[in-house]
Amino acid sequence: MADQQLYPVPADWAAEAKVDRAGYEAMYAAAARDPDAFWLEQAARLDWVKAPTVAGDWSFDEADFGISWFKDGVLNVSANCLDRHLAERGDTVAIIWEPDEPGEEAKRFTYAELHAEVCRFANVLKAQGVAKGDRVTIYLPMIPEAAFALLACARIGAIHSVVFGGFSPEALAGRIEDCDSKLVVTADCGRRGGKRIPLKANVDAAAAHAPSLERVIVVKATGDDVPMHDRDVWYHEAAADVAADCAPEPMEAEDPLFILYTSGSTGKPKGVLHTTGGYLLWASFTHDLVFDYRPGNVFWCAADIGWVTGHTYVIYGPLANGATTLMYEGLPNWPDASRIWQVVDRHQVHTLFTAPTALRALMKEGDAPVKATNRASLKLLGTVGEPINPEAWRWYHDVVGEGRSPIVDTWWQTETGGALIAPLPGATDLKPGSATRPLPGVQPQLVDENGSVLDGETSGNLCITASWPGQMRTVWGDHERFFQTYFTTYRGKYFTGDGCRRDEDGYYWITGRVDDVLNVSGHRMGTAEVESALVLHPKVAEAAVVGMPHDVKGQGIYAYVTLNSGVEGSDDLAGELRQWVRKEIGPIASPDAIQFAPGLPKTRSGKIMRRILRKIAEGDVGGLGDTSTLADPAVVDDLVAHRVG
Ligand code: WTA
Repeated sequence: MADQQLYPVPADWAAEAKVDRAGYEAMYAAAARDPDAFWLEQAARLDWVKAPTVAGDWSFDEADFGISWFKDGVLNVSANCLDRHLAERGDTVAIIWEPDEPGEEAKRFTYAELHAEVCRFANVLKAQGVAKGDRVTIYLPMIPEAAFALLACARIGAIHSVVFGGFSPEALAGRIEDCDSKLVVTADCGRRGGKRIPLKANVDAAAAHAPSLERVIVVKATGDDVPMHDRDVWYHEAAADVAADCAPEPMEAEDPLFILYTSGSTGKPKGVLHTTGGYLLWASFTHDLVFDYRPGNVFWCAADIGWVTGHTYVIYGPLANGATTLMYEGLPNWPDASRIWQVVDRHQVHTLFTAPTALRALMKEGDAPVKATNRASLKLLGTVGEPINPEAWRWYHDVVGEGRSPIVDTWWQTETGGALIAPLPGATDLKPGSATRPLPGVQPQLVDENGSVLDGETSGNLCITASWPGQMRTVWGDHERFFQTYFTTYRGKYFTGDGCRRDEDGYYWITGRVDDVLNVSGHRMGTAEVESALVLHPKVAEAAVVGMPHDVKGQGIYAYVTLNSGVEGSDDLAGELRQWVRKEIGPIASPDAIQFAPGLPKTRSGKIMRRILRKIAEGDVGGLGDTSTLADPAVVDDLVAHRVG
């Protein structure tokens, strides 16, 4: 099989790898044999106020359900990312910031400068009354202040909840309210691909639905004129009055670090909670191993800070390891398809970590925009967020990397804190499209629908049977939902929601979600969320949303909409519904196809048969299977006849 082609570890990587093949096998075995000893030893990567004496204490069973790591340890995340580097690396560049506009000057912050900025930000938060344990919502573009704000929260023990700048005021308000956050940090406007994002205006609109909100700190990023209300404070004015020194708050390892909302198959997005010690250790450990990080390497994770990838691999992992991390404000293909490679050249990027959807979009523009750049600094490539098709993998490897750079395809989730299944560049032979092998401490298992364990070469649903330090600890405000969502499908196991194949070499191939979660351009989206946005529209009676194949986004959104009686479907109305969803959730949730359907296929008990809707959206109308159990089999003929696209 072509997709089984093996790309062995390049000789130079094998010779100089931090962890080679034997090293990986030994670590994996050690972590499996005695996890507590292994993780207590690894914990020494961090700087503890009080070193832990216990490692994992967890159970996935209902009777004594709970997860903790290093619970008697005390530390501060921002001290680990900043203070401990000052003596040796104070003058090393911590953050390189590349602006949206290509001609504009980049900014650089050394560890000493970043330390001062974070202390100042922390003092501003304190002056606004933020205390340990308070939730702070961060709604910022990719500007340096985003990094300052996250680390400032960590410094004073406040819990940050970052909301992606592409989310609508409605979505923002829901996330502010859910965690009862009193303060939002935002900017006048964001810039992306030459466009303005009215962040401050969105916060003002959200405030109407977010009674908990008391204070808004506004960073002047673009200089656009924005109205300031009583609750608003300019960051630069507040920062002028505070000291550039703030002692880090000693935190228990299990104190919360952040909440990040993510979509599931049912209900509203849930607040995934990560804690202090285990999360930071996982971020540091995986950044070090998977990217074979060496001092001096410029590390570029191209994710937005609004997603978990931005948390773990733009901020916490690299900074915990004393690395130089690049933050980019803009889009990979603006103003043209060479931009991403120009940024690589401009800052001599060593490692580039991005999403398959970005690669597919760039690949469409051909090889010329890549070849117009040098890329000699680029030694390691990474992907994350969705399965990468072998064609995009080879293009990344052959054209972008000119065959010399390994690709680390990292599989993980918001819930897992950092990578769980991924190659190590000096240890693992690669197969295009496979995330390869589990990292030390990770115990994957494939099970069938009934939960029976599948051994050897097989396909099934991916579970993880043992806790790892970076695992989420709860759903904010709803511990029962945490247990119900992840640990009841297959008793005693964490169920990922992903389907997966394991091949004859024990390599894992993630095939995508098996639940009602979509992955659109690497962004997680619950079908239920889009459906509830659609049915809020006064003309809509019912809606069902499924994924459809999309050659750039990976998955597109296909919506079947039943209108109220007397209302006629039209292109105008489809446009209006798209706008509506953008307003309710944000542009990333806007349906790619809308089919007006007089009826949806339902069982006699009223359950929508999504399997059929998925097949029609995929264009596989020959494979609809048995429709005889439907209440009205004739609806299917109508759906097939009026399929869109
Ligand atoms: C998918 C992003 C295949 C998967 C870090 C998972 C992947 C969901 C990969 C989590 C990969 C992530 N190969 N699929 N390398 N990485 N996924 O929470 O379906 O935004 O469950 O975390 O993305 O998305 P999330």
